[in-house]
Amino acid sequence: MLYEACPTLSKFRTVFAAVPVLILSTLLSGCGGGGSGTSPAAMSSVSAPVSTLQDLTVNGDASLSSRAAAKGLIYGAATKSYLLADEQYSKALAAECGMLVPEAELKWNALRPTPDTYDFARADALLAYAESHNMLFRGHTLVWHEALPAWFQSTATPANAEQMLRSHISTVVGRYAGRIHSWDVVNEIIEPAYKGPDGLRTTSPWYQLLGERYIDIAFRAAAAADPNAILVYNEIWLDNDSPAADAKRTAVLNLIRKLKAAGTPIHALGIQAHLDEVMIGSNVEKLRAFIEQVTALGLKVMITEMDVRDRYLPADIATRDQVVANLYYNYLSAVLSNPSVIAVLTWGLSDRYTWNSTAYPRGDSLPVRPLPLDSGLNRKPAWNAIAKAFDNTSSR
Ligand code: G3I
Repeated sequence: MLYEACPTLSKFRTVFAAVPVLILSTLLSGCGGGGSGTSPAAMSSVSAPVSTLQDLTVNGDASLSSRAAAKGLIYGAATKSYLLADEQYSKALAAECGMLVPEAELKWNALRPTPDTYDFARADALLAYAESHNMLFRGHTLVWHEALPAWFQSTATPANAEQMLRSHISTVVGRYAGRIHSWDVVNEIIEPAYKGPDGLRTTSPWYQLLGERYIDIAFRAAAAADPNAILVYNEIWLDNDSPAADAKRTAVLNLIRKLKAAGTPIHALGIQAHLDEVMIGSNVEKLRAFIEQVTALGLKVMITEMDVRDRYLPADIATRDQVVANLYYNYLSAVLSNPSVIAVLTWGLSDRYTWNSTAYPRGDSLPVRPLPLDSGLNRKPAWNAIAKAFDNTSSR
């Protein structure tokens, strides 16, 4: 059975394909930009047109996780523990995903009600759900400049911060040792815009308390607590075709080289892949080259939080879905061409629950459509795009 991305695809493509892609990119660039560091003006300078629309028909209706597994890949999604009460949604998660990652439950502000206590209830519930459905589980995130508990700022000092960090990591990672596929040990630690040394995010409380050494401390504490987990440096906004992203990719590579030279137990780079409407459609070659350089340093790569914003796309759903799907396909085809890319996770599974609704709402207030399933949990062209990218990639 051929799985058409949408029944009107042929009509749609006839109509849409009649619009030369340059008009499409002009249309889109006229819509302005979306991601961090991508102003509307910058977006309108996106000269390379969105590539031609793909035929996203796939054979059969096998799930994303089974299509990924057939190539030695993992597909998964982020979710929140309270969403499991939505039976339809939890069934969809189990049907499509081979891995789950908690959107919030393993962050400091969820785990640490007080400086001396931990609350693992919601993380335990999510892990139990994943294991009961034979899904892998990844941890997110041990060190981040956001999602810190209210007591942190008044409690952490340069004198106690190392002990605080070490005990948090050994307690949390130790609790789940042997049950976690990979941990985002540090998250979003490079931001050249702050002009810090080596592009480090100098606004991070961890940097301010401990200096750069917090990174090595975190990785070594995680490795000691769970020698079997893949230890990941997770980063955002690496995808753009922009001077800011060029600088960020360079700083990330330099940091990885430095950590490897110091013997830091870093095993993978997580590329979050929160994409804007056309950003990556303009130059996936830069991203492919970046991933080659990362894997040449001995690291694996995971696409950890993928979604494609549609806030500046036209209101018409078929148009939006096809452009979003096109970007999913272009991006994944490029990154999956490197066999060291081992997993793809979307930041949510369905438009029913996406952070984009509040973080990047549309000006016309229409519901956003960034994920593989629509709010009714039906497969969209974006689902086809991911499925086709898995079907077309080589086996690991
Ligand atoms: O759990 C509390 C709830 O008890 C309370 O009633 C409610 C009141 O607002 O807040 C709930 O916590 C929220 C939490 O999500 C769980 O739903 C926080 O306010 C909210 O800030 C938090 O937002 C998450 C954000 O990270 C900050 O942790 C988003 O859902 C999540 O999508 C977002 O994910 C980040 C990744 O971790 C890192 N990469 C970027 C990505 C998007 O920002």
